[in-house]
Amino acid sequence: ASASAEQFAPSNIALCKYWGKRDRELNLPINASLSVSLDYLGSHTRLIPVDGQRDEVWLNGQQLQPGARFSQKVSAFIDLFRRDQDLYFRVETRNNIPTAAGLASSASGFAALTLALNDALALDLPPEQLSILARMGSGSACRSLFTGFVQWNMGLREDGMDSHGIPLARTWPGFCIGLVEIDAAEKATDSRSGMQRTVETAHLYQSWPLQAAADLSKLQQAIEARDFELLGQTAEQNALSMHATMIASWPPLLYWQPESVAAMQKVWQLRAEGMPVYFTMDAGPNLKLLFQREDRDALLKHFPGLETVEPFGP
Ligand code: DP6
Repeated sequence: ASASAEQFAPSNIALCKYWGKRDRELNLPINASLSVSLDYLGSHTRLIPVDGQRDEVWLNGQQLQPGARFSQKVSAFIDLFRRDQDLYFRVETRNNIPTAAGLASSASGFAALTLALNDALALDLPPEQLSILARMGSGSACRSLFTGFVQWNMGLREDGMDSHGIPLARTWPGFCIGLVEIDAAEKATDSRSGMQRTVETAHLYQSWPLQAAADLSKLQQAIEARDFELLGQTAEQNALSMHATMIASWPPLLYWQPESVAAMQKVWQLRAEGMPVYFTMDAGPNLKLLFQREDRDALLKHFPGLETVEPFGP
């Protein structure tokens, strides 16, 4: 039996990145990661049971071809829940963030889909179980099951049952994230193939797990002490270290555009002038700025039209 369902899940921005898989089927990571969820920015997913023999996937109001990559990914994911039953859905996902521009919309999409399937099939699964399932759709989706700061414990088991998100239960009023959109077009190399290429070809990648582990504990400490500079420095260095491993891959993987570099330089200039602003970047050209509410107005003068999210309120 199945019913209609609708759910929302937030997008998340990693402060310590997930980059590299030890199991590509189960999306098991080589390193633990830590993110902050984006409050109202994310995906709304609606499921409606259909009579046909296959799922229909709609993204932002448009039906996708059954052969489209995202459509196939969604159907394969629903197979995990469907098992052998004859259950098909019309899946409608709406993102209020640019899709596939490195703004982690696959994370919110698979998290919302997991929550909606849990409702539609009346599974009543606990959050950690849902996080494990979401992870199989897209690794970073396991963090979008929760709000606020979330840690993804890499786990050690081969079946992945200990690899899921955990909310950190720490709040930080006035903590802001700004989205600098450089280019909203679909990226040429998705995270899945990008990380595989890095793991297989970048010798530099060998240092990544150690860097990530050290950064994770610095971030925990920064969140505990509400030490913004420690958080910002650690997140920015973590992101640049990840990008260094990508650039050291073959063929080289560079997600930056000239405008990305110009925005980084603007951030460094503002810091040199005394403003505590930092950035992080994912597998795309866009920057996500990290700053505090008291600097918002001054920052907006340099980044007009910046979309700002305060995950913990003012
Ligand atoms: C750079 O979760 O999109 O955004 O597991 O293959 O779906 P798959 O990858 P995905 O990778 C996200 C990579 C990242 C860093 C992060 O969000 O931690």
